[in-house]
Amino acid sequence: MSKPVAIEVYNPNGKYRVVSTKPMPGTRWINLLVDQGCRVEICHLKKTILSVEDIIDLIGNRCDGVIGQLTEDWGETLFSALSKAGGKAFSNMAVGYNNVDVEAANKYGIAVGNTPGVLTETTAELAASLSLAAARRIVEADGFMRAGLYEGWLPHLFVGNLLKGQTVGVIGAGRIGSAYARMMVEGFKMNLIYFDLYQSTRLEKFVTAYGQFLKANGEQPVTWKRASSMEEVLREADLISLHPVLDKTTYHLVNKERLAMMKKEAILVNCSRGPVIDEEALVNHLRENPMFRVGLDVFEEEPFMKPGLADMKNAIVVPHIASASKWTREGMATLAALNVVGRIKGYPIWSDPNRVDPFLNENASPPNASPSIVNSKALGLPVSKL
Ligand code: GLV
Repeated sequence: MSKPVAIEVYNPNGKYRVVSTKPMPGTRWINLLVDQGCRVEICHLKKTILSVEDIIDLIGNRCDGVIGQLTEDWGETLFSALSKAGGKAFSNMAVGYNNVDVEAANKYGIAVGNTPGVLTETTAELAASLSLAAARRIVEADGFMRAGLYEGWLPHLFVGNLLKGQTVGVIGAGRIGSAYARMMVEGFKMNLIYFDLYQSTRLEKFVTAYGQFLKANGEQPVTWKRASSMEEVLREADLISLHPVLDKTTYHLVNKERLAMMKKEAILVNCSRGPVIDEEALVNHLRENPMFRVGLDVFEEEPFMKPGLADMKNAIVVPHIASASKWTREGMATLAALNVVGRIKGYPIWSDPNRVDPFLNENASPPNASPSIVNSKALGLPVSKL
């Protein structure tokens, strides 16, 4: 190692050297790596975002695999360094991997892991929390109380939006988008409109069945509609949550023109990736439309916010915590560790990244497989028969 950095080491005599660029929640992931013969090195450098140079130092001359974070720039330089050090695997401790240049990893034959499934409900719950907080102006009201401004009940005090009977719009109805849609439909009896390139039959069936249940109980049934364009969702929904992956096609998906299509009192929630929204245009829109509200977990240039956003009373901002429940974060660490050690040991790739529960059962040994390797096809890696 060329520069001394704060490293915590487990199982110093382990056969395989696995580095984690950050301490991660729980201890199961460490135990699982140690049980499989790894020397585990955890970086405790007091710096939130590690640079490429920091990580090159961590990789050193010999390294079998790395567990990294979505804040790191995993491209040509790092994959080349990892390959030179004999590395075979990298896993993001995240489901999203827009920080990873998968082509570069392919070039060096390095497997790239991610952590799907384990964060679906947790992330959807944060999107739901932001939706409610925005609809009922909870953060503004909390600030008002703490500032000692409450002088007694008033008919107009912090009047917000009732969600029941309104329309929730979901853009990107994959795992997280669908889970969020179900929460809002079932929990708040909202009607659903969604846009996705793929039809979400399970989600449609769920809303239909729930609508029938409500009707049978003498209540207004909920409805669903699959929109033929994203614009249709933006125009019709009262509350819109964004759940696409970030790529060239979704960069600034919500821009000035599309914001203008939304209802003046709509609520927009983003727990996907910051650059999906043109944040500067959003700040202007919030300024010009005080009844429009937004709940943001992610930002265009994290950790920064675009000028003016922090001053907007109609914006709720939280620091990229959508997956931050204890169970989920510990599970993400476990999946990331198993992705790396699975590849090092030559295990096959789990056949269904939507069904990762067997890896998360603390009372049993996990299957001998890597739970989710995004470039398994490109690398021609074998798929588990399980
Ligand atoms: C978090 O943002 C993730 O992609 O897991």
